[in-house]
Amino acid sequence: MNPHDPGDFSRLFPLCMDQEPYALGNVISFLKDRSSMPDFKGKDILTLEHFTREELDYILDIASKFEAVAAGRKKSNILDGKILATLFYEPSTRTKNSHEAAMLRLGGGVIGFDNVASTSVAKGESFEDTIKTFGLYADVIVVRHPEIGTAQIAADATDVPVINGGDDANQHPTQGLLDLYTIRKEKGSIDGLEIALVGDVKHTRTYHSLIYGLSRYDCKIHFVAPPQLQLLPGIEKDINSREVEFDKVTELTEVIENCDIIYMSRLQEERFLHREDAKQFHGAYTLNPAWLKDAKPDMKIMHHLPRLWEIPKEIDDTPYAHYFQQEYNGLVLRCGLLSMVLGAV
Ligand code: CP
Repeated sequence: MNPHDPGDFSRLFPLCMDQEPYALGNVISFLKDRSSMPDFKGKDILTLEHFTREELDYILDIASKFEAVAAGRKKSNILDGKILATLFYEPSTRTKNSHEAAMLRLGGGVIGFDNVASTSVAKGESFEDTIKTFGLYADVIVVRHPEIGTAQIAADATDVPVINGGDDANQHPTQGLLDLYTIRKEKGSIDGLEIALVGDVKHTRTYHSLIYGLSRYDCKIHFVAPPQLQLLPGIEKDINSREVEFDKVTELTEVIENCDIIYMSRLQEERFLHREDAKQFHGAYTLNPAWLKDAKPDMKIMHHLPRLWEIPKEIDDTPYAHYFQQEYNGLVLRCGLLSMVLGAV
């Protein structure tokens, strides 16, 4: 029997059994219901633009089964014998290491690089040849690159599934998924919420992915940014066509009292056409702790991290701060996603 055949639930079963407070009856009905569910085995995860609500809900549901494994409370070997390659042409703390930690939690192995100078790229090897090579050594690739469209180029160069770990200012789909997971886990539902996306809305790839994800739910988005850093026209057109409720404001204080989620972002200085143009925004779009008196008591603050000046450290100890839980959720979500694209669940 193929242990990674979607029909073989023997490996998933102990995992679900361990998922407190998961009752046996619920596990069996969950597994039976999967026959009509989306199948991500072998799929590339390059953008959230085309994901349906059913697919998003399914990914979040599967990820939730991995809470105990991600936390190290339960052991799992469902990716035993599988290898992940993390190919990072750009710096990363969370995306690279949480994918690797997820793979290790699930019994798999990890290869890759985060310094191209130590690879044959330094001798002039092409991006495509590098991807093709790692596709021969690994079962799944996560790639981050400072040029838009490179994740698609990678996917075209290899037969193994490619996960986009961020391609310049374009997309960062696993961050969008973990953001949806975080919101749903904390609030119970994404529908009915008001969510402010604050700061560099134009260049923040995590926002681009999250916006497409949120567009499948019945929520309201407040884009809080200076005119120069507002929503890209192409994404605005797309969400208009999906009848997403949104507004564009310049100050968080205009909407703070209505927000269930306030999502702060780093100024993406490295993605400006002319880097010196970013200087005018240094220190801008910082969350003033005094404003929190107007916030809902259960409002949560998120941030893709790393942060610079956007969230003063004194906010970390307030009940509003949720960004460290959010980055932890990235590990949970990536456990689920790697298991899905490798056909283990
Ligand atoms: N959120 C995020 O992508 O963080 P890293 O740049 O540390 O991976």
